[in-house]
Amino acid sequence: MVYGIDYYPEHWPQERWAEDLSLMKDAGINTIRIAEFAWTLMEPSDGVYNFRWLDEVIAIAAEKDIKIVLCTPTAAPPKWLMDKHPEIYQKDEFGHVRGFGSRRHYCFNSSVFMEYSKRIVKAMASHYFNNENVIAWQLDNEFGCHNTVRCYCEDCSSSFSKWLKNKYGAIDAFNEKLGMAFWSQQYNSFESVVLPAHTVCDNKSSGMYAHNPGLFLDYCRFASDSVGDYAAMQISELRKAGITTPITHNFMGSFYDIDYFKLAKQFDFIAWDCYPNIAHGPFSGLPEVSYNHDKLRGYTNNKFWIMEQDSGQNGWNFMHATPNPGEIRLWAYQAVAHGANGLVYFRWRPCLFGTEQYWHGILDHDGIPRQRYEEIKQTGAEMLSMSDVIDNTDVVSDACVLHSFDNTWSHSYQWHAEGFDYNKILYTVHNSILRNNINCDVRDAEADLSTYKLVVMPAYNISSENVAKKLTAYVENGGHLVITFRSGNRDEFNKINGLTLPGYFRGLCGIDVINYDPIGNGGRSASCMIGKFTPNVWCDIIDEKETTVLAEYTDGFYKGSPCITVNNHGKGKVYYIGCNMDIDALAPLFDYICLGADVERADLRPVPGVETVIRKGAGGEFIFAMNYTDAAVYIPIERYYTDKITGTVFTKSIYLEPYGVVVLY
Ligand code: GAL
Repeated sequence: MVYGIDYYPEHWPQERWAEDLSLMKDAGINTIRIAEFAWTLMEPSDGVYNFRWLDEVIAIAAEKDIKIVLCTPTAAPPKWLMDKHPEIYQKDEFGHVRGFGSRRHYCFNSSVFMEYSKRIVKAMASHYFNNENVIAWQLDNEFGCHNTVRCYCEDCSSSFSKWLKNKYGAIDAFNEKLGMAFWSQQYNSFESVVLPAHTVCDNKSSGMYAHNPGLFLDYCRFASDSVGDYAAMQISELRKAGITTPITHNFMGSFYDIDYFKLAKQFDFIAWDCYPNIAHGPFSGLPEVSYNHDKLRGYTNNKFWIMEQDSGQNGWNFMHATPNPGEIRLWAYQAVAHGANGLVYFRWRPCLFGTEQYWHGILDHDGIPRQRYEEIKQTGAEMLSMSDVIDNTDVVSDACVLHSFDNTWSHSYQWHAEGFDYNKILYTVHNSILRNNINCDVRDAEADLSTYKLVVMPAYNISSENVAKKLTAYVENGGHLVITFRSGNRDEFNKINGLTLPGYFRGLCGIDVINYDPIGNGGRSASCMIGKFTPNVWCDIIDEKETTVLAEYTDGFYKGSPCITVNNHGKGKVYYIGCNMDIDALAPLFDYICLGADVERADLRPVPGVETVIRKGAGGEFIFAMNYTDAAVYIPIERYYTDKITGTVFTKSIYLEPYGVVVLY
């Protein structure tokens, strides 16, 4: 297993490098990732290259048998380049230049930047292609970080015109398919089509965006594709120069501007940057991190790496809390349990200068190894002794949640009702399933669904007859499917399809949605076999027809009408959830649905704050149980279990210390 560190030798005197690498070696570190922001050092002026410093670091690492993940440095274009070609800068939606002073200050559609990127990638690759210590390459750093996928510059405008022309062929088809008749927006040529930048009608503070929703969706797809094209260019340069080692990129967790299912296809494996210590939003915490791990695994349906794993206090302008002793180890196990087979900590030592002076790592500013160092050393030794589990077992899930980036983008532009948040809905469904000690994948509609007993499609609004056909076959063969409100209502052009809701899925669900109530943050009451609950955000009013009603509203003018139904279809069942439910209501509902679908779950009583993941394969069968709380937990058991990490045999109950982990068999 790769057990690594993100290292920035360029921030430290050369005399310190050997000491750093020795300390790493002593802690069980076998890999460092380097150079992703070091363009100016490698090319101090136009066309003049200097790899001596990097050669030196790689040589010292090689002496200690520490391998290298080498990065292309394009996330930080040099000042000399920006001065020479200011057209490389991005423009925001108000037309302002997003200038120099931090990083990622380039537009993916700048042909000038493409050329300079090619040159540096080629120069690096030709210098290092036969260096045996380099075991993988990372492209750039976090494509799209700091809102840099969507740019509104002239290069983007002309590239967007070409992208549209390629897609629609004729301008009349474009006008017709996107509904440009609304507000007299018909275009006479692709060259005259605008980017969906700021308009007269925009009022962000009150949530008003006025562009044609189809145009907005195409722009999101185009911007995402532009990142893909840029990545493809770098991969091609590396391969042309003779690089045969795997190529990867560090994705982000709660990030949605790039279609990661599509981007992931270009890489030999993918990695992501995992910072459990920073709040990610309203649904932050370790369960969200688990969702992100499962999502990342789903992009390739394979194991993945963590390329930046939290290892200390962090923050730019202020710091987030220091990890409690045991938490760094817990986060590492959480990653591995959910499918990581490479773990690289960010960062070795906090820098004494620059924007990230506060971003801690394993050492402190003074470079002295203390508690965090000892913790990663212990974790590394444990991981090494578990390599059969890590390498030879997988997360095998009976349940799957379907995600689509088209829907992320469409829902983000027109979010139906106050409080509607597609990503939160996906996360809530996923975690409701996990709470029942059930593994859950996150895939897209292209996935082979036949391996799942349960598929959940929350708010799957942009869809097609083809997707409906695929799901129909899935259910007819015995699959259990859950569809929710705001599904099946829009075509691929982000137009409402005019079908009776739930649109494409009406036949499968066996119901008609005859009215709806976007109640936003207001609440309703409802009850079902799992008890009373309070729907919010959205309530569908349903004619249940021949289906069985599982829950109904208990107040309002639609009191007594159904909100959850189930339809027997072929050998399977289709559940329809017509209202937004919180995790406390959804968890028992999914307990019931999963029981009916015979979905496998870990044979341990669910305990709040403890998460389980079942791993299976040639290496055997294991349950990772992780205590995300600061209190010790005892879980009663009815059979013996042994902990793979410590060899402890549990007979009556499993003991988990605060932030503790056991790997049971
Ligand atoms: C990541 C990024 C790193 C570093 C870290 C801490 O998103 O990839 O380069 O900036 O955050 O801010």
